[in-house]
This record gives sequence, structure tokens and C-alpha cells, in this order.
Amino acid sequence: MADQVSEEDVLLAKRIISAAERHDLLALKVLLKEGSANVMDPTATTATSPLHAAILSCGEAKDGKEAGDDAYQTVNVLLQNGAIWNDLNKEDETPGCVALRLGQRKIYENIVEAGVRAELLFAKMQALGLGDDDEEEEVDEEVLEEQPAVKKQKVDEETAQAVTEAVEEQVLDDVSKDNKAYLRSQLRYKPGILLDESDNAVMMDWETEIMQRHAQTLIPKAGLKVMNVGHGMGIVDTAIQTHEPAEHHIIEGHPQVHQRLREQGWYDKPNVIIHEGRWQDILPKLVEQGVVLDAIYYDTFAEDYAALKEFFSEYVVALLAPEGKFGWYNGLGADRQVCYDVYTKVSEIDLHEAGFDTKWEDIKVPAGLHGSKQWDGTRRPYWTIDLYKLPVNTFVK
Ligand SMILES: C[S@@+](CC[C@H](N)C(=O)[O-])C[C@H]1O[C@@H](n2cnc3c(N)ncnc32)[C@H](O)[C@@H]1O
Repeated sequence: MADQVSEEDVLLAKRIISAAERHDLLALKVLLKEGSANVMDPTATTATSPLHAAILSCGEAKDGKEAGDDAYQTVNVLLQNGAIWNDLNKEDETPGCVALRLGQRKIYENIVEAGVRAELLFAKMQALGLGDDDEEEEVDEEVLEEQPAVKKQKVDEETAQAVTEAVEEQVLDDVSKDNKAYLRSQLRYKPGILLDESDNAVMMDWETEIMQRHAQTLIPKAGLKVMNVGHGMGIVDTAIQTHEPAEHHIIEGHPQVHQRLREQGWYDKPNVIIHEGRWQDILPKLVEQGVVLDAIYYDTFAEDYAALKEFFSEYVVALLAPEGKFGWYNGLGADRQVCYDVYTKVSEIDLHEAGFDTKWEDIKVPAGLHGSKQWDGTRRPYWTIDLYKLPVNTFVK
């Protein structure tokens, strides 16, 4: 963005934000021919996007009475004109966070749908290699924050070096930004928690009920062939054992977790087969061997949604028996309700495209989890919402 903003630009930004705030559709449509739906007024004391302004001015929905059609249409026009669904204001709220806080459910659902469309489109463009400019890229801190994959863009050597260094610095600061860096990093097992080198909580024991329920939903009877990817604190593997599987495969990539598996006797259990390494390296071999499984569970760390998508669309489809079940730890975006809702929907759509039906079960997280001492010493709480949506997937019939 240019450092110098002209008076006309500031005036246009003010007018767009004001039209959005007043839900003045006519004025807004005219103004959006001149300026962007994502303008910010640099002179304002509290920075807000037009989308934030349009929602904030709706106020709280009282007695279930939500804002009228003009507000809804204003939000629609802004989204259709490219307003960013997950843009943050100074209070660290996305437009969806504001709508939810104010009880504006209809507008909230509209934003979730826009988020789903945007994320699906973004993934398609990434897959097609689109969106990467051939022109030299500006090394923008915000872009680096969101897109470590900027390393892959075409840039001149000097810029590429600067980008690589900036990304490496970020990964050094937080190993969870890169799966391989995480797998090389030092872990700490403490009572009730597993931490990585950057103080991220990799796993915590408040998730025990969730893990047990995953095992129950995936393994309806004894004698099945089951695979878990990511051992962590061994909570789900302990639960799987109680269902007496005929084969219990565990894939785990971290050497310290292998050590822990050894210390706790997992290598000696008669029905347990441990595969040391990343699932990306192990699974192609299992597919080649013709392995067929009745249940597959996935819960790794320092991996993004693209990894989960690759997991189910490349490997679960190849390894799962026709009547088998697939589950995964549904924790993406769980520090922000709107992101959780968007990613829950995106995954359901992608799973359907890969050939799966998804059933969801709501589980309340333990009361008192938010803001509790359990998070002391962790980098950030990765879970701030009230409901866990547990997925169970079977092949579409
Ligand atoms: C969140 S923990 C799993 C917790 C587990 N569900 C439990 O009940 O304790 C994630 C685990 O996945 C492992 N992991 C991360 N990336 C991996 C990869 N690419 N391949 C295999 N294991 C991986 C981590 O080392 C860690 O042990």
C-alpha cells in the first residue's frame, strides 16, 4: 500500500464507510464503482472496514429481533464487491465475530457462507497455481504472517532470500508454522499437557472425553483393523485399545514420541504396529501393500487444512474398507467461532467431493476451560469456543 494517501482517497474511504454504516444501498453501490469494499479510513481513531461498520451499526438484536433487509443487503453488496470475510478490526474482531456478539444470526450465516465460498475458491486457485504473480513480490509482513508458502512465489533472487529469511525467522519463533520444523523440535511432556519448543500446547488432557468418543464412534465392535495417525499423549490410542482391535496401527513422526511409546510399552502390545515417520512417507507404502482398514483416525500437529484434505482425498479413500469409518480431530479455527464454522463446512464439502458422507455430533467442552489455569505457560489457548463438532465419515452409498 502506498505510504501517501491523498485527501480524495481519505474522503472516498469515509464516504464508503459512512454509506455502509447507514445501510444506504444506493450510495454504496455508486461509491463502490470508485473505491474498494475494503477501504480503511487512516484518519479514524478506531479503524473499521465497511463490513464491520455495516454490522456494528445494526446494534444488538433484542428479543430475537434482528436487523432489517437493508442491513442484510448492505452486507451482501459488500461481500459481492470483495469485502474480506475474515478481516480484523483494531479490537481483533472479524465481521463475523461482531455479528455473533450482537446476536445478528442471519448476517452471521451470510458471512459464514461467504467465508466458505472464499476458502473453496482460494484452495482451487492454489491447486491450479493461480494467484501467484509473475511480477516481483513486495515483502509484506502481513502476507508472510498468513502465507508462509510465499517462499514458492516467483521473485528475484534478492527478494527471495529476504522472504526465505523472514519465513525461517518466523518458524524459529514458532515451530508449529512448519510441520518438519515441529518434528525436529524439542517436546516437553508435563502432567496433563504436551508442549512443543515454542510453548504451543500440542495436546491437553481436557480432550479425553472427545478422544474416547472418537474411538467409540469409529470402532463399533471388537476385532477390527484400526489406524491412528498422531500418538501425542496416547489418549486416543488408549481408548482404541479398550475396543479390542485386531490390528492397531499407529503412525507417529516425532522421535521423542517414539521414545515415549517405547517407555510405555506400546511396541510390546501384541496387536499394535508402530510406523515411525511422517504419514506423508508411510501411507504411500501401505497403499502399495494393499492394506485395508476398518477405521482411520487423524490428529496431527503443525499441519494445515490442505494436509487434512490431502490425507482423506488421497489416502483414506485408498485404505478404508467399503463399510469403514474415518474420523479426524476437528480443531481447525477453534480459537474463533466464525473460522470454526467456515472450516467445518468447507471440510464437509470437500469430504463429499472425495466420496464421503459426514455426520456431526456436538460435544460440550468442559465448563471452565476458557481462561482457566490449564493454559498457563502455553503460547495461546487454541480452543475458545463451547462446542466441539465431532465428525464421523463413511463412504457415500
Ligand atoms: C495432537 S497430537 C495427537 C494427540 C492424540 N490424539 C492423543 O490422543 O493424545 C499430534 C501428534 O501428531 C504427531 N505428528 C505431527 N505431524 C505428523 C506427521 N506429519 N506424521 C505423523 N505424525 C505427526 C505429533 O508428533 C503428535 O504426537
